[in-house]
Amino acid sequence: MRYALAVRLMTVQPVIHVSRIRKTYGRTVAVDEVSFEVAAGEIFGLIGPNGAGKTTTLECVEGLRTPDRGTISVLALDPFRDVYKLQDRIGVQLQEAQLQKRIKVWEAVDLWASLYPKPVDGERLLDQLGLADKRNAWFMTLSGGQKQRLFIALALINDPEVVFLDELTTGLDPQARRAIWDLVRGIRQRGKTILMTTHLMEEAERLCDRVAIIDHGRIVDIDTPGNLVSRHCPERTVVLTTDEAAAEERFRTIPQVDAVTRRDLRYTIRGRGDDLVSEVIRCVSEHRIRVADFRTELPNLEDVFLKLTGHSIRD
Ligand SMILES: Nc1ncnc2c1ncn2[C@@H]1O[C@H](COP(=O)(O)OP(=O)(O)OP(=O)(O)O)[C@@H](O)[C@H]1O
Ligand SMILES: [Mg+2]
Repeated sequence: MRYALAVRLMTVQPVIHVSRIRKTYGRTVAVDEVSFEVAAGEIFGLIGPNGAGKTTTLECVEGLRTPDRGTISVLALDPFRDVYKLQDRIGVQLQEAQLQKRIKVWEAVDLWASLYPKPVDGERLLDQLGLADKRNAWFMTLSGGQKQRLFIALALINDPEVVFLDELTTGLDPQARRAIWDLVRGIRQRGKTILMTTHLMEEAERLCDRVAIIDHGRIVDIDTPGNLVSRHCPERTVVLTTDEAAAEERFRTIPQVDAVTRRDLRYTIRGRGDDLVSEVIRCVSEHRIRVADFRTELPNLEDVFLKLTGHSIRD
C-alpha cells in the first residue's frame, strides 16, 4: 500500500528536488552527488550512521548551508536565494536546538508566532502536542520528550507546507518516541510534506514512505522500506520445534527452502521469497507435524544497510 502511495505521489510535481549536490568542509567531503525528490504529502527519510551527511544535506535543503555544487528547489523556490519567500512556508526542527533556560513554553510559542504573518493558534497547537499543562513551565524543566514536542510545535507555528525534522527522537525512551511518531503521522495527515533524518532503522521503517540510505556522504539506494528489504534481503527464516522424526526431510522438499539446520528438536528453515512462511505452514499442516513453537525472522532495514554498505549502522 505504501508503494502504491509512493507511486501515486511521484506522478505529481515534487515538492523538494535535489540534484547532484556536493558539500565539503575543508578536506572533508560531507555530501557528494546526492540527488532525490520528495513528493507532496510524503514522509521521506534520510537514513545513515553518525557523520553520514544527513544534517548537511537537510540544512542545504533548508537554505541554512549552501552546497558547493548541484541544485535544490523547495516548493519551486531556491532555498538560499528565495529564503524570505520560503521561510513562511517551511518549518524546521534542528538537531541540536536549545532555548533560554527560563523561557516559558507559552512565551516561546508567542515569540515564534510573532515572526510570521499568519501563525496558527498557539494554544491549540500546544494542546495538540500534549503540552497544554506545561504552558507555564520553564524550558529547563521540560523532559527530553517534552522539549522535542515543543520544538515540533515551534516548527509548525506558521502552518508550513513542508516540515524538516532532524533526529527527532534521539535520546528519547521508547514510549516518548512512539508518541512523537504519532505526532509526525498526524502532521502528514494534515497534508504536509516531511523530510526527516534518523539513524534509527525502526523509526524509518515505521514512519517513512520512502527512504534514502546515505553512507559516507553518498546515497546508496532510495525506495520504500518494504521494497528495499525485498530487493536486497529476500531471505526469510522460520524457526520451529517439533518431535516429528520425518520433519527435516519434509521441509527439504519445499522448493523455496535453501537450507534446514537442526539442533535437538529445534529446526531453522532458511529460504527466500514471501511464500516461504506460508509454504512451511502448508507443509506442517499437510503432514500433520506437531509443532510446539513457531516463529519467523524477517530481515529489516538494518539488514539492508549492512548488505549495501558492508557495515552496521551502529558502528
Ligand atoms: N560545520 C562543519 N564544519 C566542519 N565539518 C563538518 C561540519 N558539519 C559537518 N561536518 C562534517 O561533515 C560530515 C557529515 O556531518 P553531518 O552532520 O552532516 O552528519 P550526520 O549524518 O547528520 O551525522 P549525525 O547522525 O551524527 O547527526 C562529518 O564528517 C562531519 O564531521
Ligand atoms: Mg545530523
